[in-house]
Amino acid sequence: MYEAYFNNKFTNLLVFYIYLLVFLLLSPFLFVWELFNYVGSCFRCKENMSGKVVLITGASSGLGELMAYEYAKHGAYLAIISTQKPESRLQQVALRARELGSPDVLFMFADVSKVDECRMFVDDTVQHFGRLDHLVCNAGIGPLYTIKNDVTIFLPVIDINFWGSVYPTHFAIPHLMKTNGKIIINASAAGVLNPPGGGFYNASKAALISFYESLRFEVSPTITITILTLGFIQTNFITTKYSSNGVGARLKKDLRDLFPTMEAEACAKAIVDGIRKGATSITEPKFFKVFVLFKFLFPKPHYYYSNIYSSLVEG
Ligand SMILES: NC(=O)c1ccc[n+]([C@@H]2O[C@H](COP(=O)([O-])OP(=O)(O)OC[C@H]3O[C@@H](n4cnc5c(N)ncnc54)[C@H](OP(=O)(O)O)[C@@H]3O)[C@@H](O)[C@H]2O)c1
Repeated sequence: MYEAYFNNKFTNLLVFYIYLLVFLLLSPFLFVWELFNYVGSCFRCKENMSGKVVLITGASSGLGELMAYEYAKHGAYLAIISTQKPESRLQQVALRARELGSPDVLFMFADVSKVDECRMFVDDTVQHFGRLDHLVCNAGIGPLYTIKNDVTIFLPVIDINFWGSVYPTHFAIPHLMKTNGKIIINASAAGVLNPPGGGFYNASKAALISFYESLRFEVSPTITITILTLGFIQTNFITTKYSSNGVGARLKKDLRDLFPTMEAEACAKAIVDGIRKGATSITEPKFFKVFVLFKFLFPKPHYYYSNIYSSLVEG
């Protein structure tokens, strides 16, 4: 019945602008609603983590390591994962987490892109602690892509960033169902904002956001899913050193020297606080939410200012 309207160019466009107008008229109310929600969330009770079991992938450095310390301070039992490398700091992270208050920390070397290894570390965690409360899918890599690169070297980006979250989630769901647990996905603002040079990284993070937003419908309210869409956080991830160690294009300058970035400890604390309050999405630094809104409303100016970033990626 409506096809005739949508096939007509004028009415099709009119419908778009009417929606946009309604959206703009409603936005003050939506803004107040958001503000109330935000203020309400400040007073929401936080989950008591004492005696709870948290499994974190990619915990040998950066945000995974710092989230492990935050959980440890709140008395959680931990299972932490990273790949086996001679220089791995995973064991030191386990020791530090114990010092900070975790009653027991299990560390396991595994590659999240391998399905059998994911099954093994989820099973071993439950066997060791008897339960699982939070699964934090944090492991990730972020090589930069330009069209001059061989496209096949980027296969691991999707394998680690996307499948490396989906595999452990699949094996953890039956256990999380029993504990009304939580799944935390470290996606990225890049999955929504698509900065230049991100290519496969952006695609892997967009896939995560899309997959877990759909999964919510199946597992909630028993399991809460928290999707993290972080901006620039001060870890090795946003340095020239990181980009020259891996595959793909190189970054010309450390991003922390050019853009506003957030301190990693503050970010990890904000994330764990948000998770404990039952947040379903967390963006840090918070002002990155404005970029997301701006991109959807005004894609052209978003393209122009994002393009500045292109000059930072060596071809
Ligand atoms: N820093 C940022 O600005 C930023 C912004 C948005 C999102 N993020 C996301 O935050 C997450 C953590 O990044 P980070 O900044 O903390 O960088 P990081 O220090 O490099 O952390 C990445 C972690 O993932 C582990 N890892 C990599 N490949 C793995 C594999 N195949 N199997 C198991 N573990 C693996 C690494 O350990 P090993 O190498 O020892 O295995 C390391 O512990 C990533 O998913 C990233 O996309 C970061």
